[in-house]
Amino acid sequence: MNVYSEIIPHFRFEGIDKQTKGLILSGSPCSVRQDNAPQVCLEGIRGSIPVLGICYGAQLLASISGGNVENSPSREYGRASVTIKDASDPLLRGLPETSQVWMSHGDTITSLPEGLKIIASTEDVPVAAYSFSGEPTWGLQFHPEVVHSIEGARILSNFVTGICGCKGEWTGESFIQSCVTELRSQLGEDEVVLGLSGGVDSSVAAVLLHKAIGKRLHCIFVDSGLLRKNEVCNVMDSYGNMGLDVTVADASDKFLTDLAGVTDPETKRKIIGRDFVEVFEQEAHKFKNVKWLGQGTIYPDVVESAKVNGTATVIKSHHNVGGLPEKMGLKVVEPLRMLFKDEVRKIGLALGIDSRLIGRHPFPGPGLAIRIIGEVTREKLETLREADAIFIDSLRKYGLYDSIWQAGTILLPVRSVGVMGDERTYENCVALRAVTSVDGMTADWARIPHEALAAISSEIINKVKGVNRVVYDISSKPPATIEWE
Ligand code: XMP
Repeated sequence: MNVYSEIIPHFRFEGIDKQTKGLILSGSPCSVRQDNAPQVCLEGIRGSIPVLGICYGAQLLASISGGNVENSPSREYGRASVTIKDASDPLLRGLPETSQVWMSHGDTITSLPEGLKIIASTEDVPVAAYSFSGEPTWGLQFHPEVVHSIEGARILSNFVTGICGCKGEWTGESFIQSCVTELRSQLGEDEVVLGLSGGVDSSVAAVLLHKAIGKRLHCIFVDSGLLRKNEVCNVMDSYGNMGLDVTVADASDKFLTDLAGVTDPETKRKIIGRDFVEVFEQEAHKFKNVKWLGQGTIYPDVVESAKVNGTATVIKSHHNVGGLPEKMGLKVVEPLRMLFKDEVRKIGLALGIDSRLIGRHPFPGPGLAIRIIGEVTREKLETLREADAIFIDSLRKYGLYDSIWQAGTILLPVRSVGVMGDERTYENCVALRAVTSVDGMTADWARIPHEALAAISSEIINKVKGVNRVVYDISSKPPATIEWE
C-alpha cells in the first residue's frame, strides 16, 4: 500500500513514537490461554492511535478487555463466508454484504465484554470482526492479508489509509531519493566493496550504492564454475549496461578441485561457502581504501534473525558471508534492509534495471553443485548446463517463466536403459523441478501443461549428449524441499 511499516517481535516492542500512525497486532500460532502467551503493553497507545488485532491479535485484545477466548469446538480452517453486521463501520467501508474470508484458528472469541461490538460474523464464528466503542480499536478473527480473503486488501486499506490517515507516499521513487541521500551522508568519501551474485537483491543494492557514491563502489562477481550456461556473460552484460565497476574472479578451478570426490550435500555446501569467502576476501583486499562491505540483506533476513525461539533446526546450511565483515575489519552497509522482496523488485525497476534481471528466478548460492546429486565434475556440469538451458528457455518460450517461482534441472546419479535408433543406450537421467511459491518457505510443484513437458523432454533427450531420460518432480515443500540437496 506504499506505506512505510516496521515489524517488531512482541518481546522487542517498546512503545510507539510520534510518527507512528497505527499499530497492527499480528496472528500467532500461540493461544492467549497458554502460559507465556505473547503479550504487549498497550497502555497509553490504545485510544491514542488506531489499533487492529488480527486473529491472535484480536483474541488478545478481546481477552485483556474481559472477553472470553476458548478452544473452539467449531475450529475454522480455510474459506468462510462473512456477513457484515455494521455497514457503517469505517473498517468495513465499501464492502459487499457478504464475502469470502480465510480463517485459520484453534481458539475462538466466544463472548465480548460491554463496549465491544460485533461488526461481522460467519456461520460458525459470531465474533468474526469487532470494534471498540469510544476508541479506534478493532479485531478481525479472519486473515485479511491472504489473497483468499477477497476483500482483505480493501479492509487493510480502510485501516491504513482511511482510519490511520497514511498517504501511500512510500513509493519506489521516494525510497530511492531518501536512500541515496542517507547513503551519501553515511559513507562520506569512503569506498565500498560488494559481492554481486547476478540475483535481484545484490544487483539492486549495487545500483543504489552506485547512484550514491559512483566509482567508489567496487563490485566483485565470483565465478565458482557452478553457474548456469552463459550466466557470467549475460550477467556481466547487464551490469556493464548499468555502469557498474565489476571484477570477475574466475575461481572455477579452486571450487572444482576442492569439491572433487565429495558427495555429501552438507560437506559440499560448507566447502563452497568457505571457498566463496576466501576468493571474495582475496579480491576485496586489492582495493586498498575500502572501509565498507555492501550487502543485499533484505527485511525478511532481518526479521528472521530475530526469531522468537532463536535457533531453528538447520535443514540446509546456507551459503552466506556472515562472518566476513568482522574478519575483514569492514563496516556493513545494507541499503535494502527495510525492504521486502516485492519492494526490492519495484525499486529495481524504478532504477531502470533490466526487467529480465529483476524477474529472474532465485538461484542458490552453491549453484549447480547442489543440483548434481553426488560428486561434481566438469563433465556433469556441462551436461546439466545444457539440459537446464533447454528447460529454462522453453519456460520462457511457452510463457510460463513468470508464473513459476523457481525452476531448475537436477542431474541424478542414476543411469537407465533406453533405445535410440536401433541402439541400446545406458545413460543419465535428469529431473525437472519447477515450483510455485510466495517466499520459498513453502512451495507446490508447478502444473506445467503436459504438451510443454513433452516438448521439453524430447528436446533434452535429443540434444543433450548423455541423457536418455527426463522425469518431473511432483513433490511439494514441505515435506520435500525445493533443491534436492
Ligand atoms: P530449499 O531447497 O531449502 O530452498 O527449499 C529454498 C530456497 O532457497 C534457495 N537456496 C539457497 N539460496 N544459498 C542461497 O542463496 C543457499 O545455500 C541456498 N540453498 C537453497 C533455493 O534455491 C530456494 O530458492
